[in-house]
Amino acid sequence: MLTRRRLVPFLDLAYQGFAVDLDADAAGVRLVAEQVPEALIAISFSKNLGLYRERVGALIVIGENETRADAMQSHVLQIARSIYSMPPDHGAAIAAHIFANPTLTGEWIEELGLMRTRIAEMRGLLAQQLRKATGAATFDFIRTQHGMFSLLGVSAQAVERLRDKHHIYMTADSRMNLAGIMPHNASYVAESIAAERLG
Ligand SMILES: Cc1ncc(COP(=O)(O)O)c(C=O)c1O
Repeated sequence: MLTRRRLVPFLDLAYQGFAVDLDADAAGVRLVAEQVPEALIAISFSKNLGLYRERVGALIVIGENETRADAMQSHVLQIARSIYSMPPDHGAAIAAHIFANPTLTGEWIEELGLMRTRIAEMRGLLAQQLRKATGAATFDFIRTQHGMFSLLGVSAQAVERLRDKHHIYMTADSRMNLAGIMPHNASYVAESIAAERLG
């Protein structure tokens, strides 16, 4: 459909490395980029390099030919100039330093693997505790999903009660950051969700 309707996809890659590995997690983006003449790909290193507030990322613009690519670059530079003029540099310098050094890159990939494994384990633990607390398999999807976030699927009122009564925080649409789950708090979180999930 993208090629038939001559659409230019804008792809967002913000959690590369959090599902399987860096390479496998880019498969979807690669698949789309290979099918279309032009694409925009936004890459964020906020999560996978742990540089959340340093504004580190990249915009990859694929042009149909060199002239189109040059034109796109000039548009992007103009947009950047009108938005922030000078981008913050220090986080990007950290990323560049790591990527230019094979030893540091290897350490980063290893640490990313540790983060991925830990989140997967905590997902499993929370799902298990939720089964215990609710007596149902409603939240089993937490175990099978990947990455840092899951949408619990509870109401905004339940989210409010979880915050006010249990001090558990998530966005109003019940999107929860699973990186905050640890062995010592999984059962507390599960019991709180079980107590507030309805209504
Ligand atoms: C899906 C998705 N894309 C992009 C971003 C933005 O990342 P950045 O911190 O680089 O602005 C986020 C941040 O939470 C995200 O969840």
